[in-house]
Amino acid sequence: MSEKQKLRLAVLASGGGTNLQSIIDRCGQGLLDADICLVISNNPGAGALERATRTGIKTACINHREFDSREDFDQAVIATLQEAKIELVVLAGFMRIISAPFLRAFPQKIINIHPSLLPSFPGLHVQQKALDYGAKISGCTVHFVDDGVDTGPIIVQAVVPIHPDDSEESLAARILEQEHKIYPQAIQWIAEGRIKVVNRQVKIAGGEISAATLTNPSSPDE
Ligand code: GAR
Repeated sequence: MSEKQKLRLAVLASGGGTNLQSIIDRCGQGLLDADICLVISNNPGAGALERATRTGIKTACINHREFDSREDFDQAVIATLQEAKIELVVLAGFMRIISAPFLRAFPQKIINIHPSLLPSFPGLHVQQKALDYGAKISGCTVHFVDDGVDTGPIIVQAVVPIHPDDSEESLAARILEQEHKIYPQAIQWIAEGRIKVVNRQVKIAGGEISAATLTNPSSPDE
């Protein structure tokens, strides 16, 4: 595949950046028709910036604390993305709400990963919320970003069982394993032009429907 065809990505991350790493690795293996052209963080200490630098990816640290308003911060991010001619904005643990001008600048070109089965448990600390609620299954969701919090059209979800002795950390780790699979997959579908959004249904041309089901605790028939 020629360089010309590759989708120009920016990954926005506030934390450790394991999702970023999964995308870097997939690009390195030649399995993604995409180039990570830029990594942006609002947090100067983000491990994601280190991971990008180590791989030779351009980084920008835009510290939200240095701006008077969300809009001013978002304007700086938008300008940086536009200058780099970014075609898809990938939020990977980016702990900032996206403002309306940001959405207008990249219509249906911003995606997010969230560590729950949306619409259950939007927001923060969602692994602990799933444990506190007593849910038996959780998982992760890749979705387009709209003007709500974790409400945009769903592209793909993965399910994981919750164990009786799970801590927030053990559940988060089990969910992250699945995040690292479905996020690169969703990006590849977008790069291949296979995704269309009709109302809020995301149609994936040739997307195979999983035959797997999960009962937790498992039933004797499984
Ligand atoms: C991931 O679990 C991601 O789903 C979550 O933050 C973590 C980032 O991990 N995102 C959100 O909670 C967004 N609301 P990472 O920095 O190792 O990729």
